[in-house]
Amino acid sequence: MRINGKHFRTIWADAKNEGVISIIDQRQLPHQFVVKHLHCLDDAVSAIKDMHVRGAGLIGATAGFGMYLAAINAWEDAVDEVLEEAASQLNKSRPTARNLGWAVERILTAVRTVQGGADKKRKAYEIACEIADEDASFCKQIGEHGLELIKAISRKKNGEPVNILTHCNAGWLAFVDYGSATAPIYAARDAGIAVHVWVDETRPWNQGAKLTAWELQQEGIANTLITDNTGGHLMQKKMVDMVIVGSDRTTHTGDVANKIGTYLKALAAHDNHIPFYVALPSSTFDWKLAEGAEIPIEQRSGDEILWISGLDQTGNIKSVQLAAPGTQAANFSFDITPARLVTALITERGIVQANRAAIHALFPDKILSSSQE
Ligand code: MRU
Repeated sequence: MRINGKHFRTIWADAKNEGVISIIDQRQLPHQFVVKHLHCLDDAVSAIKDMHVRGAGLIGATAGFGMYLAAINAWEDAVDEVLEEAASQLNKSRPTARNLGWAVERILTAVRTVQGGADKKRKAYEIACEIADEDASFCKQIGEHGLELIKAISRKKNGEPVNILTHCNAGWLAFVDYGSATAPIYAARDAGIAVHVWVDETRPWNQGAKLTAWELQQEGIANTLITDNTGGHLMQKKMVDMVIVGSDRTTHTGDVANKIGTYLKALAAHDNHIPFYVALPSSTFDWKLAEGAEIPIEQRSGDEILWISGLDQTGNIKSVQLAAPGTQAANFSFDITPARLVTALITERGIVQANRAAIHALFPDKILSSSQE
């Protein structure tokens, strides 16, 4: 997508610079645009843990490149062992996004089939690039399918802007390109359909305020930032036509783990008869979990609630304390929206009902391969 008119992905390898992976440091956005270089596994682990990169698809792509960095820095006769250890470190870096474990496993499996250290390293690189490219192309396809939903609403409204509410950032910054929840919005813009996005600020890390509002602005999409508690009121006032959010992990029965607060939006949408869609690439499905309650929910430091950072009047980024010193804070990062509150899932293969039978019918190959593991 574009930043000041120039196309960027969120992570990339430089073919001329072996062993260097570049990322956009999302902790500095929207006030500073900083590109960071990752040189080794530890760099990739901290980039994920400390949220220089975040969002399910991008966490997966970074994990893939992290495995490559571990391989490239290993002795030729120790690549497999080094990758096993790297997998365990990466898997612990953030627990909820399924894409992480999925990417790590994909590299481990592919590298095991190859003989010789040099070829194993080449394979790790090839698969990491494949994961990143696939993430971008799956999001593009999600956009094409989601476009049909927006088109239908636009037709009903005789071309009046379609008001879409989104939570957190499931935009291109959360993936390698396009985003999941935002891809249909970008596709609608390209098709000449008027859209307007209500952006939840998404406490405590404020991915909506810092990232989604900024990326939509960069792409010229009309958007309005709202506090997390506003969505229900807007829905009652008929100011929301549809909700599209992303997912960090979705069971193969249709329960969705997404940023904390998503469940409340789904309840409000249900109460107001507003369609609630979840956009996700198949890499976010957990083919082994049938119950949303089994999804591990990350708990992060309470400091993310107690402190807030932004630009001060002198143009410097500053952190300030919000609550009284000594205040206890509990920071649950994700919640589960049960399948019954989800109108449908938008995937790269098409729009599917959030239930076991429909998901299994669209992804029979994934069900088969997960049962063989
Ligand atoms: O904690 P984050 O920023 O990594 O959380 C991920 C998210 O941005 C959201 O939950 C998002 O809606 C799904 S990820 C595509």
